[in-house]
Amino acid sequence: MRNFKNSTIYQIYTKSFQDSNGDGLGDLNGVTSRLDYLKELGVDYIWLTPFFVSPMNDNGYDVADYTAVDPSFGTMEDACRLIAEAKLRGIGLMFDMVFNHTSTEHEWFLRAMKGEEKYMNYYIFRDGSPDLPPTNWESKFGGNAWEYVPHLKKWYLHLFDVTQADLNWDNPEVREELKKVILFWKEKGIEGFRFDVVNLISKPEQLENDEIGDGRRFYTDGPHVHEYLKELVRDTGIADMVTVGEMSSTSLENCIRYSNPAEKELSMVFSFHHLKVDYRDGKKWELKAPDYQELKSLLETWQMGMQKANGWNAVFWCNHDQPRIVSRLGDDQNYWKESAKMLAACIHLLRGTPYLFQGEELGMTNPGYPDITYYKDVESTNYYEIMRSQGKTKAEALQILAARSRDNGRTPMQWNGGKEAGFTEGTPWITIPQNHEYINVETEKEDETSILNYYKKLIALRKESSIIADGKIEFLYQENPDVLAYRRFNEQGELRVFNNFTGQKVVLEENVAGYAVLLGNYEDAQESQAGIVLRPYETVVYRK
Ligand code: GLC
Repeated sequence: MRNFKNSTIYQIYTKSFQDSNGDGLGDLNGVTSRLDYLKELGVDYIWLTPFFVSPMNDNGYDVADYTAVDPSFGTMEDACRLIAEAKLRGIGLMFDMVFNHTSTEHEWFLRAMKGEEKYMNYYIFRDGSPDLPPTNWESKFGGNAWEYVPHLKKWYLHLFDVTQADLNWDNPEVREELKKVILFWKEKGIEGFRFDVVNLISKPEQLENDEIGDGRRFYTDGPHVHEYLKELVRDTGIADMVTVGEMSSTSLENCIRYSNPAEKELSMVFSFHHLKVDYRDGKKWELKAPDYQELKSLLETWQMGMQKANGWNAVFWCNHDQPRIVSRLGDDQNYWKESAKMLAACIHLLRGTPYLFQGEELGMTNPGYPDITYYKDVESTNYYEIMRSQGKTKAEALQILAARSRDNGRTPMQWNGGKEAGFTEGTPWITIPQNHEYINVETEKEDETSILNYYKKLIALRKESSIIADGKIEFLYQENPDVLAYRRFNEQGELRVFNNFTGQKVVLEENVAGYAVLLGNYEDAQESQAGIVLRPYETVVYRK
């Protein structure tokens, strides 16, 4: 395995990266055709979102066959060519394993629906009368988490969409099936895996109502999750591959166990607490201005906690479930370039492996869709209806979606300023924002001061500097909500990183005499001096 600490991982949302056959959907050959771009960017691994056979109710996170390619994405041959071509360019592929649930069109579920006991034991079925679900748990996509099957007189659990049935990991046969999937792809020569919502796989034996919440406290980081992960990793021999687990509503304590090498579970974890600082009372569908002090203290708690106990974070702002960061924590109108670069430096220089989501390196923005008909995501369309039924006006519901919808991150990659941004020759499956006229690869490649070229620098710096890749971290100015500042250090030296999160000037009494400027996002970064004046959204990195 290459060193994942000095690596940068690039996430491709396959459906929205590059279409190669004019059907308006991104595909595997499209990804292959863009590998040179990724090599030039300097990334080490690609995490490719699911391209397996699926009815696509959740854009491929509802898998109907784990070891076959969905025709809309290409063929097995295309997948193998992609792996080989990436390898030629020194890039490793990580595939996305959706093991908490299968599509209800998976053969296992279809056979369960026929009443075959073996396959009913693959899922979580409970007896019950048609009008009373076994528990009051809520689906993450809205509504109750159980669905009644009249002919079986049983309910099945779905923590996500009704077409995503939760697997029963307590059944050893299920665990064996999933190991086979890992081995199948491992043999094809990929270098790592991302495990979807993997901290939800272990449900308690007795399922009970949640009188104070939506049920998550019972199944999040559940009773056997560490045991099952260890078994999966051990029996498939993937301890020396790069692995990342998506951890939903998790705890620091559990993430230390998931990622501490001594535990032999995963290389690193995604946690999401820092991406809820604009949720009102923790509720995704209620807006609040970002609380920067909370953001700072969450990042600090996680960075320091993981460092202390030898855990390892995936560090990131964006993915296919999140709005675009420059629209969210930056200012995509007045300080688009500055704030995108500041956010880039801020996250890439933390302790952990940075993940870059397609288009983030261009400063892509939320599309600001004007009407519900633009939205495709199942969670967004469900919640639109829920919000409307709760009395929100159309305009209010749309304003919330414009800030929160997962489709914000799913608009196609903007390759050029031409028709459909160079994504497709046909009609894209989802509308591309007008700003592709200036936010695009072709334009930014030519501009030395572009966001794209800034990311290239950051990725290259991590390769050159052991301080960035593996140095210690310590936070500065903890009580100042306007700046996020920290020190990185090891025996090679020290970096001081200052990020202004506001559109105003910020003055810090900081003595950086004797330090040199390593990186800044204004063309004339100030030289070291006693006292620092940060301009709006300015980031400066000093080195000694
Ligand atoms: C993860 C995926 C998300 C998907 C969900 C259910 O959170 O990132 O896109 O909808 O799991 O599989």
